[in-house]
Parts: sequence; C-alpha cells; structure tokens
Amino acid sequence: MTRTIKYSALAFALSGALLLSACGGGSTTDAGHQAASSSAGLPTGRIAEGEQQANAKGQATGQSCIDCHGADGNVPLDPSYPKIGGQYRDYLAHSLQQYRDGGREHALMSQQATGLSDQQISDLAAYFASRPTLLRDLHKIH
Ligand code: HEC
Repeated sequence: MTRTIKYSALAFALSGALLLSACGGGSTTDAGHQAASSSAGLPTGRIAEGEQQANAKGQATGQSCIDCHGADGNVPLDPSYPKIGGQYRDYLAHSLQQYRDGGREHALMSQQATGLSDQQISDLAAYFASRPTLLRDLHKIH
C-alpha cells in the first residue's frame, strides 16, 4: 500500500516535471528571442566580408556605407550622421535589421538597408564593431 502510494506520487511528480519542462522549455525559448537582441540567430559575422560590403556601392543611391559614415564608420559625411565605428555588434545588427524590416525608418538609411541579407547584416555589424570607437558618453563631457 505504502509502495503504491509512493509510486503513484512519483509518477505524478514525474509527469508534472515533464509537463513543466515542456511548457517551460517552449516559453523560455520564446522569451529568449524577445529578450535577446534581434541579432540573435543571425549567421556568424565575418569581418573581412563586412569590410568589402562596407566599401561596395549600394544600389539605392550609388553610395557605400563608408561614403556616408566615413573611414571606419568614424568620419561621417555630415555631422548629423552617426558614428558607427566600434559600436556594439548587436546594436549595429539590430539597427540594420530594423531599417530593413521597417521597425526603424529614415529617409536615407532605410533604403540603404533594403535587400540586405541576414549574412550581410552580420558581416557589416562585425566589421564596424571591430573598428576603433569614437563613441563617448555625453554625460562625461563637462
Ligand atoms: C546616404 C548616406 C548613408 C549611407 C550610404 C549609409 N548610411 Fe547608415 N545612416 C545614415 C544616416 C543619415 C543615419 C541616421 C539615421 C537615423 O537617424 O535613423 C544612419 C544610421 C545608421 C545606423 C544606425 C546608427 C545608430 O547609432 O543608431 C547604422 C548601424 C548604419 N547607418 C549603418 C550603415 C551601413 C552598414 C551602411 C551600408 C550598407 C550605411 N549605413 C549606409 C546615412 C547613410
């Protein structure tokens, strides 16, 4: 009798654990996708390919990334254009995905990202992230 109770309790506990892991596993994965930057799941970025791509003339305006963002992404054509050299790779990839997919819109930049593949985004992000940074915390300038 005691044995039967133990076994059924064990079976109950086990089935509960299985259910939990099934649900927990699913929701953890979903939450992981949302919590992580959207660059999660992109192919591995290749710096050399990213450099080539950064210098290649795009179809949108006939300009390369470097034409507007400058050498190493650090010498923008216009002071209002962002410096992207040494920026976090995930941030760069996320921004490019957002411009491409419409989550972020800008008259100039959106068209530059149109048609970029996930691999190209990953390569570009890896390249610009590998450059020296001139980014700084504005709170520290006084
Ligand atoms: C015609 C000029 C131009 C070209 C060419 C261009 N960009 Fe941009 N880029 C801009 C401007 C302007 C912004 C700021 C847009 C905004 O305020 O959202 C920007 C923003 C960005 C940002 C977001 C930076 C941040 O701090 O949020 C990234 C990343 C970026 N560009 C990468 C690239 C890459 C990679 C290429 C080449 C595929 C490229 N850009 C080509 C003008 C350009």
